[in-house]
Formats: sequence, structure tokens, C-alpha cells
Amino acid sequence: MEYIVSGGRLQGELPVYGAKNCALALLGATVLTEDEVILNNCPDISDVRNMLLLLQAMGKKVWRCGDRVSVAGELHSTCAPRRYAALLRGSALILGSTVAKYHKIALPLPGGCAIGARPMDIHLSGLEALGVKVLHFPDMVSCSGRPKGAVFKLRFASVGATENLLCACSLVEGTSVLSNVAIEPEVVALERMLVDMGARIEGVGDRTVTVKGVRKLHGAIFDVIPDRIVAATYLASAVAAKGDLTVTNCCPQHLQAFLQLLQPHCSVKIYPDAVRIVAEKRTGGFGKVQTAPYPLFPTDMQSLLLSLAACADGTTVIEENLFENRLAHNAAELGKMGADVQVSGNVATVSGRNLHGAELFAADLRGGAGLVVAALSAEGDSVVHGIEHIERGYMDLAQNLRNVGAKIQLR
Ligand code: EPZ
Repeated sequence: MEYIVSGGRLQGELPVYGAKNCALALLGATVLTEDEVILNNCPDISDVRNMLLLLQAMGKKVWRCGDRVSVAGELHSTCAPRRYAALLRGSALILGSTVAKYHKIALPLPGGCAIGARPMDIHLSGLEALGVKVLHFPDMVSCSGRPKGAVFKLRFASVGATENLLCACSLVEGTSVLSNVAIEPEVVALERMLVDMGARIEGVGDRTVTVKGVRKLHGAIFDVIPDRIVAATYLASAVAAKGDLTVTNCCPQHLQAFLQLLQPHCSVKIYPDAVRIVAEKRTGGFGKVQTAPYPLFPTDMQSLLLSLAACADGTTVIEENLFENRLAHNAAELGKMGADVQVSGNVATVSGRNLHGAELFAADLRGGAGLVVAALSAEGDSVVHGIEHIERGYMDLAQNLRNVGAKIQLR
């Protein structure tokens, strides 16, 4: 399956749905209780479907009704089946909760992917600090032991490691102090759901959190937060294709770093839960942009910016500091469209051009979305292959963009 993209002008409103990276973290936390946890606004995307298959294979009862997902019951196995765990990296997010509740887990390591090696040393050293025994095997890890409260500083504010350690600390004997934790909106949402489940967390949203372990956590009903990367994708599509688009059901404050880059070039109007963008001409260059942990410019929006820079009327320098292999592939694909992107190490220097259509190949989820954005700006047709990557994190991307005027077909 591929997308055929031939431009078009965007006009109208597009609602955003629940965030993949929030839903996966919350689903990992459901292991902490046998009570029912209900997630509203849970996106129906392949990563979430696969995470539910993984939880079900380990014993959880799961069902979905529309955007509502329910997970309940005990695990009957703490061995994560490779056929499911290997389907998504998010499977690693059952590590902390399973160790905390069942004091053991055997987890196939998801390994690297197109964007980088993605090791799990911070996750595992954090669990060891809690007294968990970790055995490393070539492609899996085995953890055992009853975690106890501890003080641990993350060497880097890893999103996934923070999420695993928050879950592990919530259901243990004793108090833990975690410092240099990630504060991405998806992490804060997890902290809030854990509190709703009965966890005792001080410093929600701060870089240092104190977690007083409890003996039991109960069920909760929780809304998955809007997907800030999907919102940015829609906004970037409007800039590339030109038009007047209002993105609704989003959290503008989660998009600040991206909106600040667009505001000098387009009319951006911010509402409490929506952003309206009017783009009638090519933007100028975006200057020097560095990816960094929240609230700075997110790595997951980097491929969107790379594509907007490639079709801008000016120069942009993008430094990718989170993942070591998240620039080169899309730089080469954009080059097929006439783009001038020079990559040296983790820095791309982009001199904007008018792009023409080409045959493009997505290598990862966010990179694929970036190629769709570039294709919307290009003169002539483009074919975007590898949309199974895109469908990991986007619901009906082509249909949604077509609903507001994009000329994009699924073939
Ligand atoms: C989460 O990945 C997201 N995934 C990623 O989104 C996102 O790009 C990333 O956070 C950064 O914001 C989910 O939430 C499911 P990290 P995660 O641990 O947790 C290094 C998408 O497309 N690191 O914050 O894996 C790591 O190699 C995905 O939705 C270690 O060295 O990201 C990377 O360089 C892509 N050791 C940096 O930290 C560790 O133990 C950031 O990784 C853990 C991470």
C-alpha cells in the first residue's frame, strides 16, 4: 500500500485524537492493578492494537468500544511473547509495572530501529537501584525481585525510562526520589493516572518526583491526551500545501516550540483547544533549530520541520540531538524531490527549493509523515511507500487530510 500525493490546498477543520505515546504508557501502567482501567480517547492505531495483543497474550482481559479501551485482570504469565513484544518498541513499557506487581518479567528487548540504537540501560539501571536483579541476554532481559524505594538520578531524561520507573516505584515498599525525569506531556499524563489509581506522587510535572510506594493500586477511568505530533503534522501539512486550517481537540501549550517557529511566517491564532493557521505563501527559512527534551523542540517533529525547511524560501539548520539516525534517510528522500539538504553528523543544513514530485520510501513513523508533508508542497505527483510505518501512529492520515482538501489517495 502506498499514498499518491498531488498537493491541493487545505481548508476547514481537523480534529486531533488521542496520543500514541500517551496511550502506550497508560496501557503499560494497567499491569499495576487487576482492577479495570478504562482509557477514553484511545487511538485505534497499529501500535495500540499490538500493545493490547501483548497484554491479552499475558493474561489481561481487553476490549475496545469506539475510542474507549478497557483492560482488567491479572497477568497469567510474566513472559512477554516475542511475537507481540517485537511488534512495537512500546512493549518495553510493561517492564516497570510488571516487576512492581509480579516481581519478575522476561522481556524480549525491542532492539534498535531506523532512528537509532535505542538502548535501555537507563530503564535497567533504575530498576537495579530499586533492588531488582537484572539478567541480560543477547536479545532479552530478565528481571526479578521485589523492588524497594530508592533514590535514583536518570543520566538522561529518558521518556520511557521515566515511565517505567514511575510505575515500578508506585507499587513498592518505601519511598523513592527520582531526579532528572522526563516531563513530556505524556509522562505527566501517566503521573496523573497513577495518582488516580492511588499512587502517592509528589512533584507531578517536575524534574524531581517523590513516590511513596503503596501496597495496592486500583482501577481508574482516564482520558488519553491529544496527540501533539499529529496536531503538528496537520499544521505542517497546511503550511506545505497552503491554506486555512483549524486543528481542533488539541493542546496548544504542548505545541509551543513548533508554533514559535511558524508564527513569523504564517498567521497562527491560538484558542484554548485549537490552533488556526493561515499560510498563503512560502515560508522563509527557520534559522537554527535543535531538538531537545520537552518543552524544547521535540525530535518527533523534526522530520516535519525538515520537510518545511526543504520547501522554504531561505535556509534552516537542524541539529538532531536525541536519535543518532533520524536525519539521513529523509534528507536523501527529499533530495529526490530537488531538495538541497546537506547532512554532516547530526546536523542538516537546508536551503529551501521548490520541490517536485518523486517516488518516496518511508523508513519510520515520523519520517513517513514528513515525506507526506513534503509531497503536499511539491509540484506534480509523489508516491509514498511504506505507509505501514505511518499507520503505526496515525489514524486514517490520507482520509483526514483529504477531508480538508488535500489531493492524497491510498493505493
Ligand atoms: C519516546 O521514546 C517516544 N516513544 C519517542 O517517539 C520519542 O521520540 C522519544 O520518547 C523522545 O521524546 C514512546 O513514547 C513510545 P527516550 P523513548 O528514552 O522513550 C537514549 C515516535 O515516533 N536512551 O526519551 O524510547 C535514546 O537512545 C517515537 O512516537 C538511552 O541511551 O525515548 C535516545 O537517544 C519515536 N538509554 C534518547 O535517550 C535508555 O535507557 C531519548 O530516548 C533510554 C534512552
